Amino acid sequence: MKTVTAMALRHMKNAGEKIACLTAYDASFAVLLEGAGVEVLLVGDSLGMVVQGQASTLSVSMDAMVYHTTCVARGITRSLLVADLPFLSYATPERALDNAGRLMAAGAKMVKLEGCSASVLETVHRLVQWGIPVCGHLGLLPQSVHTLGGYRVQGTEPDRATAILDEAEALQNAGAELLVLECVPVTLAKRITEALSIPVIGIGAGVHCDGQVLVLYDVLGIVLGKRPRFAHDFMQGNTSLHDAIAAFVRDVKRGAFPGPEHSYGT
Ligand code: KIV
Repeated sequence: MKTVTAMALRHMKNAGEKIACLTAYDASFAVLLEGAGVEVLLVGDSLGMVVQGQASTLSVSMDAMVYHTTCVARGITRSLLVADLPFLSYATPERALDNAGRLMAAGAKMVKLEGCSASVLETVHRLVQWGIPVCGHLGLLPQSVHTLGGYRVQGTEPDRATAILDEAEALQNAGAELLVLECVPVTLAKRITEALSIPVIGIGAGVHCDGQVLVLYDVLGIVLGKRPRFAHDFMQGNTSLHDAIAAFVRDVKRGAFPGPEHSYGT
């Protein structure tokens, strides 16, 4: 694998080559993931749930994100390292700039934030102006779980679907270079992927996205509660961690994952 940049991901989209992305929280798994061909490693604030045992991502601190980003950065040389800005760390563009700067200093090459409010769009613009690449996140927004009323599929009503498409275009226009789309119907994800020139990475968004991301623990069959519909245990049929991760990469690349059983209809 060559060094992965935002530009390289855009070339992959244009060439129809699917992008494999997984979450990572420490150096040892980072080495394993890069070695198995995972192009994008996301230090997700999902670490609040899978590492810290919290019920949601809301309590994850900036210090925790910086710590785990530093750990993952030590394990990789070529994969693109994206780190989440946690809950309220980008409540104003000024706070976002300070906190994104901390993640970049820790080794991130791009930061991710959720939603598309006027303040988020201004923040994306500001970060990009200062040389910080940005990944947006639309659909199910885990940091807004209490306003969404739970972890459920988004954009099933036509009005909401159109609104998410508009938001995706607004994020791209503000300068975002990558978009994570979580838990939306397959048809909506397809429309958004076709409408955008930046790559769209899906989780529970169907097979038509430019790439797929999953939480590493779900891929390895380590699930504390109910496994989400979009997750798949790649340890089944594989006898090593490396083989399971390589199977995820292979299935993403050949469009075999996600299948209809991992996806949502209209
Ligand atoms: O925090 C995270 O791990 C994420 C992925 C689920 C996309 O945002």
